[in-house]
Amino acid sequence: MENKVINAALLGLGTVGTGVYKVLKNQEEEMSAKIGSQVKIKKILVRNLEKAASKVEDPAILTNQWEDILNDPDIEIVIELMGGINPARSYILAALNAGKHVVSANKDLIAVYGQELLAAAEANHVDFLFEAAVAGGIPIIRPLKQCLAGNHMSEVMGIVNGTTNFILTKMTQEGMEFADALALATELGYAEADPTADIEGLDAGRKVAILASVAFNSRVVFDDVHIEGITKISAKDIRYAREMGCDIKLLGVARNEEDGIEAYVCPMLIPSGHPLASVNDSYNAVFVHGDAVEDAMFFGRGAGELPTASAVVGDIFDIVRNIRSNCTARIGCTCYKEIPVKKMEDTHNCYFLRMQVEDRCGVLAEMTAVFAKYHVSVAQIIQKETKAQDCAEVVVITARVREGDFRTAIKELETRDSIRKISSILRVYNK
Ligand code: NAP
Ligand code: HSE
Repeated sequence: MENKVINAALLGLGTVGTGVYKVLKNQEEEMSAKIGSQVKIKKILVRNLEKAASKVEDPAILTNQWEDILNDPDIEIVIELMGGINPARSYILAALNAGKHVVSANKDLIAVYGQELLAAAEANHVDFLFEAAVAGGIPIIRPLKQCLAGNHMSEVMGIVNGTTNFILTKMTQEGMEFADALALATELGYAEADPTADIEGLDAGRKVAILASVAFNSRVVFDDVHIEGITKISAKDIRYAREMGCDIKLLGVARNEEDGIEAYVCPMLIPSGHPLASVNDSYNAVFVHGDAVEDAMFFGRGAGELPTASAVVGDIFDIVRNIRSNCTARIGCTCYKEIPVKKMEDTHNCYFLRMQVEDRCGVLAEMTAVFAKYHVSVAQIIQKETKAQDCAEVVVITARVREGDFRTAIKELETRDSIRKISSILRVYNK
């Protein structure tokens, strides 16, 4: 096949769009040798032409009219890096229906409308690839769909949000409180002006939905994922966790159990010896378990201009190879099963519980009697005196128990006068 130019268009020229433009420029010299074609960015869709002009060599490629791209038959690949649901959804669908291949990093969209987009790609026999949508520069979608396809995956979990990992690292290593660590993350440019999606776990929840769908070959959408953020974590929780041999991380967990899929994001204690406990700062890591490969871990930069662009360009190059070999749409939607997603109350975990109790004889016996009624067994306990009179702080880690039973036990404990306050409840990762 001749060494033809393949024209592409970028939708959006923000952090990732600019990164993709730079990485493609940087690859220009060896691209033909590497993939047999030259990828040319023929047009870039932006809202503000003036603002974008200084970011490109030839401002004539900028447009604020989507139709300039959609109606250009020479553009074979559309790279959506605008983010958000609309108009990204309608632009991607229109591009696919026009027979164009699409690359996207848009987890917000894919976690909700992934099935629709993949179905449109399949119907039009084109590629829709989204490696950058989960954990930025870390390869995980393609490894799951291709290199690990010979497995039944039972678990995919990890640290998939860099901002919250940075905040928790500062709280752990420097004893900072949440608000101070968030302020530092904002000052250093890790956290966005509105950090809600990161600190409330929504960003990680979208990634868990996508990871679970790909790993278990069964559709999991954003609404299926139970989500809790890190805003209630205190430096004190972290200190107690460490005393008990654990660190606290915001984990995204997806498990394929006999009775269904579990999918959740929450701050969890993880044994300090687990490889994920030493993934610090803004780094991400994804840990998978398959019946053939056993454990495998993927580590790296989960966000940022060039790391995310690295994943996007990998997808673009894959599509170019497919076009050249006349084998596009080779790997589309891999969700061929319909596994139910379990309710959170039916999941099983160990729990960390910090509470203030009356400091008198018999209080612990009262607490364990309530626990026993609901099958909650204590695995570790610490008791410390507090400054308040007649009050002690008790920290418990339970054995594995059904969440619904644990919650019922907590409700009953809250009615007891001897339990003055339950300050924290966290899950403990224990597989
Ligand atoms: P960003 O910096 O906010 O850039 C978005 C770009 O899209 C801006 O240039 C914006 O133009 C443009 N845009 C938005 N709506 C548009 C519209 N209707 N028409 C034309 N242009 C439009 O966002 P980003 O950080 O690059 O993220 C892009 C995507 O990558 C998102 O889906 C995000 O979730 C995903 N992602 C990002 C990262 C990361 O590290 N940043 C990592 C993984 C995945 P204006 O500047 O004029 O508004
Ligand atoms: N805001 C995300 C993070 C990066 O902090 O990891 C984009 O997915």
